[in-house]
Amino acid sequence: MWEVMSDPQSSLALPVTRLTRRKTLDQVTAECQSHDLKRTLTATQLTLLGVGATIGAGIYVMTGEAAADYAGPAVLVSFVIAALACLFTAFSYGELSSTLPVAGSAYSYAYVSIGEGAAWTVGWLLLLEYGISCAAVASGLSGYATSLLSDLGVHVPAALSQSTFQTVLSGANLTLTVGPRLDFVGGLAVMIVTALLVRGVQESARVNAVIVVIKVGVLFVFVGFGLQAMHAAYWHPFIPQSEGGFRYGLPGVFRAASIIFFAYVGFEAVSTAAAEARNPRRDVPIGIVLSLVICTAVYILVASVLIGIVPYRELGVADPLAIAVNAMHEPWLALLIKVGATVGLCSVLLGLLYGQTRIFFSMSRDGLIPAAFSRVHPTLRTPWIGTILLGILVAIATATMPLEVISDLVSIGTACAFGIVNFTVIWQRNTRPGITRPFSVPLGGITIGGFWIGIAPALGIAFCVIMTLPLCIDLLRALGNGNPLPAILLGIYIVIGIATYFAYGRSHSRMAQAPFDAD
Ligand code: ALA
Repeated sequence: MWEVMSDPQSSLALPVTRLTRRKTLDQVTAECQSHDLKRTLTATQLTLLGVGATIGAGIYVMTGEAAADYAGPAVLVSFVIAALACLFTAFSYGELSSTLPVAGSAYSYAYVSIGEGAAWTVGWLLLLEYGISCAAVASGLSGYATSLLSDLGVHVPAALSQSTFQTVLSGANLTLTVGPRLDFVGGLAVMIVTALLVRGVQESARVNAVIVVIKVGVLFVFVGFGLQAMHAAYWHPFIPQSEGGFRYGLPGVFRAASIIFFAYVGFEAVSTAAAEARNPRRDVPIGIVLSLVICTAVYILVASVLIGIVPYRELGVADPLAIAVNAMHEPWLALLIKVGATVGLCSVLLGLLYGQTRIFFSMSRDGLIPAAFSRVHPTLRTPWIGTILLGILVAIATATMPLEVISDLVSIGTACAFGIVNFTVIWQRNTRPGITRPFSVPLGGITIGGFWIGIAPALGIAFCVIMTLPLCIDLLRALGNGNPLPAILLGIYIVIGIATYFAYGRSHSRMAQAPFDAD
């Protein structure tokens, strides 16, 4: 499969050539047919994987902050804006996954279309989106599980349910505190999900289907009871008057959209399952678009009811749905919401961890990270070593790290990855116009100077910029206010990514022994 054409290790190979070396379509086709993973997932299971990986902390926790601090009732508009950013990107994912049904999702698309440098960048951004966000989700799960256990009479001490490092916001300053504690509950949840993923993809898909039914069912029960407790007055003013900066008004609606964006992270995990789908060219695009549509409908329903039950200024708490249920005087429903959140966050972990292991699988097969990440178990047919290593890393991060601070960073990373996916569609159409596309992005395109620009991917890029702008402005504002922690964390992450590629990936890349792209 790999033919030696040149020695890119030699000084003759310019660094820029290495960064732009890309896989040929023949290589990708051969890879699609030559892996040991099992092809078992159906369109329904793929859709449930997407819904399972998506509905979680975003709706259970962040909707409250977005409404209370930024958008008021217009948080509904924020949901629509974030959904549009995702919808245009979902079309791009659909086109790329139907053309290239490979395991590595956006990472692999960039490798085939643009080159190794872009692929590494996307892989590193996806690690932020899938791997690091898992730790944030697990810490949210820990909060709900601890509260649920306490309702059931089991008290988990703070030393076993809170992370070693924590951030405390006082005024504009974010300070880091350290204490003798470990989030054992969150870490344990990660390890249980890891064990399930090692056990097998079919087993994981079945458990995921049950969880999705429970968590969506619980949210529908909330909507059903909540409809009767709504007060029309709480919806007014729909867009509260601006109080400066991003606090309310139109800027607040967009800032809230960038927070809500986190709630949609996960729908494209479907694309990482292409190598294990029965009919990836047809079912992966269906799974991606359908799971996004289902999640958007659920979010808008739940948020509409939530802001009708509790005045928006009172929603800025860690458990806004619980506050709403208290206002409805239905204690049993409060318990049900906690069960839904705890179980539901497990399926988010499942979907995101699954996605990350498959991206690592592809990067490892390409030589950019160590081979252990693509070793498949002979009977379970899962990348077991990589899954266990990732599980341990995420569990340690959950137990120790101050994760509240990273959700904005996850959103920035995700929006950048989405932007590159949209750009990849445009690039691919121009560089390989003749390849078969079972699914194409809608709305057509315009040609400027012989270069085709798709309307849908261009809108996708524009919406990604809209998602990241308020986050970047806030990051810079925090820096100016003497709170450099988020910017430092982002800077460290970028530097580690670049250093890892140059210290390991570039020299171990299998493209170092393969031909440069010729198709
Ligand atoms: N979208 C996922 C959540 O909201 C990450 O938890």
